[in-house]
This record gives sequence, structure tokens and C-alpha cells, in this order.
Amino acid sequence: MKQTILITGGAGFIGSHVVRLFVNKYSEYHIINLDALTYAGNLENLTDLDQSPNYTFIKADIRDAETIDAIFEKYPITGVCHLAAESHVDRSIAEPMAFITTNIIGTVNLLNAARKAWTGNFEGKRFYHISTDEVYGSLGSEGFFVETTSYDPRSPYSASKASSDHLVRAYNHTYGLPVVITNCSNNYGQNQFPEKLIPLAINNIKHMKPIPVYGKGENIRDWLYVIDHARAIDLVFHEGKVGETYNIGGFNEWTNISLIHVLCEIMDRKMNRAPGTSASLITYVKDRAGHDLRYAIDATKIQKELGWEPSLQFAEGLEKTVDWYLANEEWMDRITTGKYQAYYDQQYHKR
Ligand code: NAD
Ligand code: DAU
Repeated sequence: MKQTILITGGAGFIGSHVVRLFVNKYSEYHIINLDALTYAGNLENLTDLDQSPNYTFIKADIRDAETIDAIFEKYPITGVCHLAAESHVDRSIAEPMAFITTNIIGTVNLLNAARKAWTGNFEGKRFYHISTDEVYGSLGSEGFFVETTSYDPRSPYSASKASSDHLVRAYNHTYGLPVVITNCSNNYGQNQFPEKLIPLAINNIKHMKPIPVYGKGENIRDWLYVIDHARAIDLVFHEGKVGETYNIGGFNEWTNISLIHVLCEIMDRKMNRAPGTSASLITYVKDRAGHDLRYAIDATKIQKELGWEPSLQFAEGLEKTVDWYLANEEWMDRITTGKYQAYYDQQYHKR
């Protein structure tokens, strides 16, 4: 079936992989990538799609309700994959307001526009909200997040995402809007902005700069290769049941410090350094305020109901990721200058 799909946040890390997958896989669809191009949005992530006839980029801000309504009036949108968000926990701790306006109000603007455009004809329509496992809070050493785990967000970022999840469900319950939600664990892979742990560590190791490890490095995250998340998004968009939530995770838990040690070994090898050279850069710094101890997803539902599972082992995914960052120095250099450098100095020199 011909569809017009609006993907928000498509110039960001995960969004760019989703846009590429949809544009290349579904030549019969018209894919519209809507992105405000904040510090985290980078059209360089998608230059390979410049000549694709089924792809349109629109620079727009989801906080601007009039513009969002106008886009729904102009294009016969049949589906939304909503990824646009402020996404970095540390930034949410430093300055929460952008998280409230983009993640909550921006989401409501999209819900309102879809509701207006689709009212009376929800047949074949779908509003897919991409969310995070952080809405569930923090685990102790045991247990997993399942779809029915109570919400307990603990940072301004996760609270804003939890709020948007509730609003998406409320529009389904109240107005019948056909929604679906996924909550995913930590993604890694190419094109991730170097404020996040893995690309930040790769970049610092490359330049022989200290690797900042928060607290004791004992916090645990469940890592998933970004292309596997994009594959899950494709599956849920097409086959997920309306009104349902699916958790997505990597079945792949690591303490931050063990992960950093693996990265250090890979980097020593790739950069022809003596073993232990990169690990000597590990520097313990002041902990993140309210730092969640452990996230771990039970992804049994999406596995059983939709047949999804991660395709890549972590060791292979990390190698590929390091290779990409080392081969794409210019991509990294262009975004680690200017404003990003000012953020980095503020974030790490006060610790
Ligand atoms: P990202 O920060 O790399 O990209 C976000 C994109 O949204 C950028 O292109 C940015 O320009 C755009 N954007 C921000 N504010 C906007 C606005 N007001 N209007 C329009 N566009 C705007 O984020 P990411 O890591 O790719 O995450 C994408 C989504 O997936 C987010 O909703 C995030 O909560 C969710 N998620 C991320 C992870 C992860 O590990 N990165 C895990 C689970 C869920
Ligand atoms: O769980 C999904 C979430 O994963 C997404 O919703 C978020 O958008 C995404 O940013 C990510 O959040 P985290 O806070 O887990 O990711 P981050 O890469 O910022 O940090 C990973 C872990 O590493 C965390 O325990 C904090 C720690 N850390 C992070 C940085 C940036 C450090 O020790 N040092 C650092 O410099």
C-alpha cells in the first residue's frame, strides 16, 4: 500500500537509521523527515539519500503547533514515527526546560495535528511513539523491566518521556487515536552524538584524553545496536497491535567500567598502541545527580509476538562502531568544535 510517513527527529542518531531503512526498503512510500536540526541533528547523516525520489526533508520544530498542523494539511500523512526529542540525561539535569517543551508539548502538537487530520478516518493510520526504558526508573541487581512495570522516572529527561508516553496513551483511550509505543534500552552504533558514553569514550581515547567515568563505573546499561532498533521500529510500525506497548532491548547488560575496558582493548589494537595505553586514560569523576543504577529490558513480548531479536553480538557491534568512528574523523571533528566544545568544558571541567 502507498503510504506517506512522517518521521520526526530523522536527522538524529536513531532517526537517521530509521529514515534510511524506510526510504530504501519501501520505494512505494513517501518518507518525510521532519527535524529542527538542533545541536543533535545532522543532515550529513543522510547525504546518501539526497537523490532518493521518495524522500523529503522538512526543517521544522515540533514545538510550533501551527507549522505542524500545516504539514498535516499539505501532505496526506498516513503514519507517524515520532523520534524527535531532547535525548541527553546530563543536559536535562543542567537545563530541563527544553525537555519539557520538546518532549511533552512537541509530542502533544503532533498528537493534535494527527487527530485533526485523521478524525473520522483512523483506518490504516498509525501514530508510533518511540520511547525509552528510563521511564521505568532504576533496577536493583535483579529483575527486568516488562511492559507492565510501573512508571518511576527519575531524571527530567525520563520524566518528560514518561509524560509523553502517558499523553500518547491518553489520546488512544480518549479519542481512539491508533497509537503504538516502544520503550528501548541504550543504543550504540555509528552517527551517535559524542555526548553519549560510547562515542565520547572512543573520541577521547583516540585523542589520548581522559575517559570520564561517573561515580564508581558500576552502573549497568543494556546495549542494543542501533540498526537492530531500526529493524524493530520497522516491524512494530507495520505489525505491532494498536494500543500496545513493546519493550526492546539487547539482552546485553554491562557495567560502564567493564564496557570501557573492552573499548580500551579494541582501541589499543586498532591504534597499534601497547596494551593498557587506553585504559590508563580512565578517570573517575563526580557521579551524575540521581544516577539510575541499572536498566535491563525483558524483550520477550516483541520476540514472541512479532519475531524480533537482535541480529548482532556486542563484540561485533562494538568493533563495527569503533571502525566507523575511526574512518569518519571528519564527521566527528565537525561536530566536536564550537558549541559542543563549550558544552564539554562546562560539563566535565566542573567535575
Ligand atoms: P538524538 O538526540 O540523536 O536525536 C534527536 C533528533 O531530534 C535530532 O535530530 C534533533 O535535531 C531532533 N529534535 C530535537 N528537538 C526537536 C524539535 N523541537 N523539533 C524537531 N526536531 C527536534 O536522539 P536519539 O538518541 O536518536 O533518540 C531518538 C529517540 O529515541 C528519542 O525520542 C529518544 O528518547 C529515544 N530513545 C533513545 C535511546 C538511545 O539510546 N539513544 C534509547 C531509547 C529511546
Ligand atoms: O536507556 C535508554 C537511554 O539511554 C536513552 O533514552 C537516552 O536518550 C540515552 O542518552 C541513554 O541514556 P544514558 O544516560 O544511559 O546514556 P549515556 O550514554 O549518557 O550514559 C551511559 C552510562 O554511562 C550512564 O550510566 C552514565 C555513564 N557515563 C556517561 C557519560 C556521558 C559516564 O560514566 N561518563 C560519561 O561521560
